[in-house]
Amino acid sequence: MSKRRRLVVANWKMYGRLTSGCVLARDVADLAEAARPLNFDLVICPPATLTWAVGEAILGTPVALGGQDCHWVTHGAFTGDISAAMFVDLGCKYIILGHSERRHGHGESSEEICKKVEAAQLAGLTVILCVGETAAELESGSTADIIEKQLRESLPQNVKTANLVIAYEPVWAIGTGQQPAPEDVVTVHKLIRKILGEIGETVRVLYGGSVSPANAASILSETEVDGVLVGSASLNADGFWAIAQNCQ
Ligand code: PGA
Repeated sequence: MSKRRRLVVANWKMYGRLTSGCVLARDVADLAEAARPLNFDLVICPPATLTWAVGEAILGTPVALGGQDCHWVTHGAFTGDISAAMFVDLGCKYIILGHSERRHGHGESSEEICKKVEAAQLAGLTVILCVGETAAELESGSTADIIEKQLRESLPQNVKTANLVIAYEPVWAIGTGQQPAPEDVVTVHKLIRKILGEIGETVRVLYGGSVSPANAASILSETEVDGVLVGSASLNADGFWAIAQNCQ
């Protein structure tokens, strides 16, 4: 078992409507309630449109609320953006930043992500910072360089380690059903801790990318893995709970 308290995060991405999202959140919360006390942390990051409703559905349960991305400015003329303070206002405790669907899908730079990390922590959120190599980077043997570059460029000088989680998410493993071998995940997690230096021992490092009820046990049997960031498999309450059970 990991030395650090484990963390299981549901990243619903752009899925869920008002009714289905609330039912799913409530189903997860009911499972978590029945298993009290949980000896791991559980978070749901719904799409921004459902933040308030999901927050209401899980209020008072062991499930915490998170956002999927935020702007680095508290307020202003930024059409379509949502600030960290706005997520806090809705009851969020966590925020996913630097996800590959933002880095690669929206061309977000590590410089921008760094500003978001700083702003989110300042607002009181725990940041789940995603890093990971593409298939081409894996093939060219540059995984370690990419992870180091993304980490160094995405973390502000004054980063608060108590409010920081790193998620190693190989881009080629996200939504593909492919996964690195657990020993390769461990190698990257150790590298992340080394790059983090002194703080490396306390920061939780998660794995993300095609985590499912079928493969979660083998990933979470590694003590280096402090939890998982789950995309598609988090859209089913029983499946998500089966994954989380490996941390209990
Ligand atoms: P996946 O997504 O579990 O659907 O691969 C993980 C993620 O993108 O966080």
